[in-house]
Amino acid sequence: MLLFQLGREYKLSVWELMQLFQCEEIVYLDQSVLVVAWLNETDVLQKAGALGGTIKIGKISDYSIVELWKDYQWKFQYWVSSFSKKINLKKYLLALKKELKLAWVSSRFVNKDFGNLNSAQIISEKLVKKWTDYSIVDIDGVKTVFQTIWVQDIDAYSQRDYGKSRDMQVWMLPPKLCQIMINISWWKKIYDPFVGLWTVLIESVYMWNTEVYGSDLSDSMVFASTQNLQSLKPEFDFISQIEKLNAKFIWEFPQLHKTDAIVTEWYLWEVMTQKNISLERIEKQKQSLEKIYKWFFSSLKKSWYSWTIVLCFPFWEIHKKYIYADNLYSILESYAKIEQIIPQENILEKYQTFTQHTKSWSLLYKRKNQLVWREICKLTIL
Ligand SMILES: C[S@@+](CC[C@H](N)C(=O)[O-])C[C@H]1O[C@@H](n2cnc3c(N)ncnc32)[C@H](O)[C@@H]1O
Repeated sequence: MLLFQLGREYKLSVWELMQLFQCEEIVYLDQSVLVVAWLNETDVLQKAGALGGTIKIGKISDYSIVELWKDYQWKFQYWVSSFSKKINLKKYLLALKKELKLAWVSSRFVNKDFGNLNSAQIISEKLVKKWTDYSIVDIDGVKTVFQTIWVQDIDAYSQRDYGKSRDMQVWMLPPKLCQIMINISWWKKIYDPFVGLWTVLIESVYMWNTEVYGSDLSDSMVFASTQNLQSLKPEFDFISQIEKLNAKFIWEFPQLHKTDAIVTEWYLWEVMTQKNISLERIEKQKQSLEKIYKWFFSSLKKSWYSWTIVLCFPFWEIHKKYIYADNLYSILESYAKIEQIIPQENILEKYQTFTQHTKSWSLLYKRKNQLVWREICKLTIL
């Protein structure tokens, strides 16, 4: 039995896992963890690096922590995170320490203020290698213990995310979201017609996809993305083609029908701060998005593009209220069939509160300290 600690946008995390591993035997699901039986651990660990929405993976421990460590000669240091409101972590840790003492094990739990650990702490303390990071979940009244076997490499993400200059970051798709979007598309030959900062293509290569395609209106973006992809070639085996092209003429992209999914975010929306965000500015953005959407989707229709498209567009928060780019929904509906990212008829039906979409069948991605967020849609052209 494996436990997946879900990312902040747990709905996206859940569906990414469902796409990659099918997960037919769901044992437990809430906003923080998904527990699944009968998954192949080796297969899961092989694909774990391509999971944008999972923080850590644990496997069920056949023995209690005391049984596991009872013959340990040195001081046993361990960490436990609780993923159930029903479990009082402080009480649990104190009782465990007592039990270990009775078994003559000298021990120390290292949780600070009886709180859960984050990935950075797990990595810096090398806890996965030491087998000393545990998670507990109350499953049907039983406190079930999982031993951590993998943790998300947050340093690698921040290098990819914030390694670019400040200006670039502002418009960059977060790499984790990018991986999720690629996994949601389910396909492997990804095309980004607004290649920009090449995040989609680079992430696709990191996910071991062997063909990537891109185009962009700007010479400098085409040049830079080609160079950047080249620099990955000694390490990864893939073919790529980047062309200078106005996406209005997308049918001219030579490999268009060789690709099997478009994954993109194309609009350089304005960066708004608490001080300058206003309904008027948002309305202006919505109008310019509408124009782009109209021509992009009519070009795709003209191109007879029949594969999956996963894209995201902005929504805003102002005075604690969300403002959606709802003028785009009717455009999407007139050109495309919007898919439910999480199909309702699947085995997740029982967990509907955790898997509901927005009214427009999208899922949302929000990042702390930002006022402009993303709505993710999956579609096919009609
Ligand atoms: C926000 S970036 C895209 C981000 C990118 N998808 C990524 O993975 O990082 C937007 C890009 O769209 C390009 N662009 C804008 N209008 C375009 C058009 N009509 N056709 C093609 N590219 C266009 C810009 O040059 C810019 O590089």
